Amino acid sequence: MFEEGAALKQRYGEENVFDLSLGNPVMEPPVEFKQELKRLAEHPLPGMHRYMQNAGYPETRAAVAAQLSLETGIGFTMKDIIMTGGAAAALNVVLKAILNLGDEVIIFAPYFVEYRYYIDNHGGVAKVLPTDEHFIPKLDVLEAAFGAKTKAVIINSPNNPTGVVYAEDFIHQLGELLRKKEAQYGTQIFLISDEAYRKIIYDGLKYPPVWRHHSQGIVVTSHSKDLALPGERIGYIAVHPDCSQQGELVDGLIFCNRTLGYVNAPALMQNIVRHLQQVTVSVAEYQKKRDFLYGHLVDIGYSVVKPQGAFYMFPKSPLEDDVAFVAELQQWKVLTVPGRGFGTPGYFRISYCVDDRTLGGSLAGFKKAARKFNLS
Ligand SMILES: Cc1ncc(COP(=O)(O)O)c(C=O)c1O
Repeated sequence: MFEEGAALKQRYGEENVFDLSLGNPVMEPPVEFKQELKRLAEHPLPGMHRYMQNAGYPETRAAVAAQLSLETGIGFTMKDIIMTGGAAAALNVVLKAILNLGDEVIIFAPYFVEYRYYIDNHGGVAKVLPTDEHFIPKLDVLEAAFGAKTKAVIINSPNNPTGVVYAEDFIHQLGELLRKKEAQYGTQIFLISDEAYRKIIYDGLKYPPVWRHHSQGIVVTSHSKDLALPGERIGYIAVHPDCSQQGELVDGLIFCNRTLGYVNAPALMQNIVRHLQQVTVSVAEYQKKRDFLYGHLVDIGYSVVKPQGAFYMFPKSPLEDDVAFVAELQQWKVLTVPGRGFGTPGYFRISYCVDDRTLGGSLAGFKKAARKFNLS
């Protein structure tokens, strides 16, 4: 997508291509990030470019733990936190540490594309389950899908690609179901919560922490989106303090962080984000973009579940063949992604973390494509 978009922009001019295909935030990091960067450059810490403990700087882990304790009311300490090279590294480290060959990991379609590859990387088998018309996992389908080899369930809320946020009641029921199945099979089933977009949430909604609902809980997240730092590769894994064999699991995660070749999360970023645990990019800006695009798409005639977080929308494709529809939009220089890439054909993904000119400019293409297929 990255390369195709770049080629089109080169051919037709940047201003004539409306690239809504990538989750690469247009926003600059908050001013506090630049202040910390400047402070470190002017007053470097001794040895700040050396190797460190593979789990990360104790001070950074402690700062993350303090923030999580504040947000959840659960007593996290640095022993529960491993700093990673973003959520992508965090997911690979977790899967490497917990999976045996042939273990099953349940994911829900539409899913973040890389999940299947990450599970495969570590000898796991992805079991893909459908969601309902609002993109919420179906608990009855999930209940029937568990087996003795189920090692984990991955959830992602706010969701990429739909923008849907799971309600606390859903997470509560999910936790109950996991414990029921653990008892039935005499196994441990991890709830891996991918919270890359936890802080980008709209309409005054509060993010319901998964921690209260399952103690075999592992959260993976990053500052790629909430601090707009995707190129800097900084995130973390947090393990529930009451997880069984907690110490052994954390040791395994630290070992895997090292042996998968990540070694440790970037030192400079750890020294910065330590001071930014309460800072987030402007969520109001993203909400404005969501309101603008959602309002126009619905007016034009597209069928869209209103996103409550992240910066994606997943409208229904007017054509059954989502690849053909995405190609049609491309005729009008509007770049989106077919739903089948996320395991859900018949839809397409729009990423609206772009500047207002790109968003506004894309509307003409959406209108023309809609007219061609009699949407409006
Ligand atoms: C749902 C989800 N998880 C994980 C990631 C990986 O993010 P990063 O490795 O930059 O933290 C992304 C990136 O777009 C994502 O959308």
